[in-house]
Amino acid sequence: MFLTDQPPIPVTAPPELPSSGLFDFNATTGFARAYLHTYYGGEPPIDEQLLSRFLVREAARLPRGRFLEIGCGPTIHHLLPIAPHVEEIHMLDYLDENLAEVQRWREAADDAHDWRAFTRRCLLDAGLPASGQAVEARESLLRSRIVRLGKCNLMQATPANDRQAYAAVGCFYCAEEVGISPAAWEEVVSRVSDYVAPGGTLMMAALANMSSYAVEDATGRITQYPCACITEDDLRSLLPRLGFPAEGLRLESHEIDHPDVGVTATLMLAARKGPG
Ligand SMILES: C[S@@+](CC[C@H](N)C(=O)[O-])C[C@H]1O[C@@H](n2cnc3c(N)ncnc32)[C@H](O)[C@@H]1O
Repeated sequence: MFLTDQPPIPVTAPPELPSSGLFDFNATTGFARAYLHTYYGGEPPIDEQLLSRFLVREAARLPRGRFLEIGCGPTIHHLLPIAPHVEEIHMLDYLDENLAEVQRWREAADDAHDWRAFTRRCLLDAGLPASGQAVEARESLLRSRIVRLGKCNLMQATPANDRQAYAAVGCFYCAEEVGISPAAWEEVVSRVSDYVAPGGTLMMAALANMSSYAVEDATGRITQYPCACITEDDLRSLLPRLGFPAEGLRLESHEIDHPDVGVTATLMLAARKGPG
């Protein structure tokens, strides 16, 4: 257990909510390290175990070609199941400090975050041996697949060069954290979907039925960040309007009875874009 079994700790006021419905992460301080500490500091929490299984299954169906993770944050773990199935991986995020964390891991720097527990989980979910050597091999494969690590901004229109440029796009726990009103969330998901080529695949994971999530820094200070309170119905209604027909949609909805990092429900999906 992580957040829920701790004694009361000072909780900072949520950052001021913008009237645009778009939450600017430049308002955060020390997000990357605190986020890693909260969600990725130990063994994979339940929501990540569920997502690992989903991604392992879905990765095998991906079109080969270029895969983009947008809003990757300081993390690499959602790409561990993807790496064997695609030719190239591109990673984009809004915050320099997140990109710097990923770069440290890419370079295997001494102070890089340790993802080995997540790599082991991924290998076990794929029915593969998860020895130290196997973990190292999967992480090296992922490092070799990452060819672009750069900035993006989902609060602005998708750059022309990136439109429809990817055979597959992953966006995990990001769209509802940036577009925090229903309308702004739709706008952000629409921008994410702009990156997907006709016939390509969109993969997403989202917090469900939650309006905030907690991030705890190393001193124990917890900040509640806002997110759009979205449901399975919201996704089922939006995706066809963005060119992802219902027939090509696989969606899982999970209630988490005993949340170990405060996440109470999640949605995960893979959707095939129409031919355009
Ligand atoms: C809750 S974190 C999710 C990180 C990671 N994808 C994961 O699954 O743990 C939300 C991410 O959205 C990114 N983000 C915030 N504003 C953004 C924007 N305007 N454009 C793109 N990404 C943004 C943040 O930097 C942060 O890394």
